[in-house]
Amino acid sequence: MRKAVYPGSFDPLTLGHLDIIRRAAKNFDELIVSVVRNPSKNPLFSIEERVAIIKNATKDLPNVSVDHFEGLLTHYVESVGASIIVKGLRAITDFEYEFQMALMNRKLNEEIDTMFLMTRNKYSYLSSSMVKEVYRLGGDVSCLVTEYVLSKLSEKIIQVDNS
Ligand code: PNS
Repeated sequence: MRKAVYPGSFDPLTLGHLDIIRRAAKNFDELIVSVVRNPSKNPLFSIEERVAIIKNATKDLPNVSVDHFEGLLTHYVESVGASIIVKGLRAITDFEYEFQMALMNRKLNEEIDTMFLMTRNKYSYLSSSMVKEVYRLGGDVSCLVTEYVLSKLSEKIIQVDNS
């Protein structure tokens, strides 16, 4: 059974992430998309909201489940009985950081490998932070996120603006 974990902040999920999920799901028996709880970051969406967004976007993919974790990724991957970490790689700028993380994770657990999927060209510039900034400043992000994310963004940004 080839079980993989696709970890990330997903704050929020973009079409770039979703493309990686769909492509990775074809290559593994089971794919767990897992949202990291990082106490040092101040995300726009709570863990529960991010999990709900990803569940909504992947409901047609029977071998994909959605979870969250805190602490070391390798400990989490071990705990769910997976042996592969899936990562999306955008431009060359991603490479150094991802390379470093992959080597560190391998050092922490020799049994766990990282597999990279190159992003599709059309999503190579896309990031969650950019989506949030463009949306906040009134730009159109409808071709970069799902409709569900778009509706959640509008609720969230209105809440943030009112606070
Ligand atoms: O979507 P992101 O923010 O690029 O995801 C980063 C993530 C979750 C993959 C990374 O921060 C991570 O692995 N966090 C868990 C903590 C950990 O294991 N750190 C050591 C990695 S070398």
